[in-house]
Amino acid sequence: MGINKAKKLTTIGYKAAALLTGVTILLTGCGSFKGFAVSEVKTEDGDIETVSDDALISVGFSQLGSESTWRSANTESVKEALSTNDGFFLIFDNARQKQEKQFKAVRSFISQRVDYIVICPVIQEGWEMVLTEARDAGIPVILLDRSISVNDDTLYTTFVGEDMYAEGASAGKWLEEYLEDKGMDGKDINIVVLEGTSGSSAQVGRTRGFGAIAARHMNWNMLASANGEFTQAKGKETMERLLHEFDDIDVIVCQNDDMAFGALEALDEAGIKTGEKGDKILISFDGTKKALELVKEGVINVDVECNPNSGELLAQLINDLEAGKKVDKTNYMEEKVFTKENVDEYIDERNY
Ligand code: AHR
Repeated sequence: MGINKAKKLTTIGYKAAALLTGVTILLTGCGSFKGFAVSEVKTEDGDIETVSDDALISVGFSQLGSESTWRSANTESVKEALSTNDGFFLIFDNARQKQEKQFKAVRSFISQRVDYIVICPVIQEGWEMVLTEARDAGIPVILLDRSISVNDDTLYTTFVGEDMYAEGASAGKWLEEYLEDKGMDGKDINIVVLEGTSGSSAQVGRTRGFGAIAARHMNWNMLASANGEFTQAKGKETMERLLHEFDDIDVIVCQNDDMAFGALEALDEAGIKTGEKGDKILISFDGTKKALELVKEGVINVDVECNPNSGELLAQLINDLEAGKKVDKTNYMEEKVFTKENVDEYIDERNY
């Protein structure tokens, strides 16, 4: 589809000898994005054509960081779907977990007069001012992956991402059924949670979703919730601290796979096993290949999928908006729950 689309683009008249495709040349010295850039695209016949930026849909993308395996897969998915050959001109910015950096990136996209702004918001709160500036400039904002908390939902056009509450609830329901199957539903169960970035919709949603199921069970004791920042290093450090504080943990919930990998390092060093060969239940989120392999080995009991491949749907939504179509306000990705029973079907095709 990308090549066909490239064929349709208005060229400015010459075939470049370069063998590069999708390379964007930005001519400098310009105050605004419009009218100063040309890009090379590959046509159906394999020719390289140069198109003016006006023929491409310009998108400023503020990615929140690169903290996890999941995040890298999400960035890749967007870059692949919004390629020059697909008719897009992507300006990428990595905010390295700082909301301030996201504000700066959005303001820079506004001053470059991009056609669309896409944001993966690091945390939920605090977006009103910068999104008002984007709306005043007439630039549609699309939220990707994580949602935000604002009173006025006209501040963004659409959201495409994951239902974090549903993910947390799926983990809770899995535990409920598992304990029942093992005849442990009357027993006291001590739970610790390694949470992701505080105030992110992923942390808030998963905590609330799991909490709603936990509230149905008086015997589920939430011993502690600690911030592991969605990283492997912090996951390890946090697990070490929790093992030091509590010697009676039954269930470890890691709100992403990277923290689970870190937690497993700490557990291994302490000589503790999880899953079917251990005495602690390990629950994780994301569904990366390495984690699915650990599900298969019986080390992680359950992994609730968080689907990072939202690039294609994002591109579709932008194309629909360009065509003047009405799009849904909320677009959730399809997600699964992986256990030893079904994981074999999915491991091979997983590329992150
Ligand atoms: O927002 C999605 C979450 O953020 C993923 O679970 C995690 O791995 C990432 O860093």
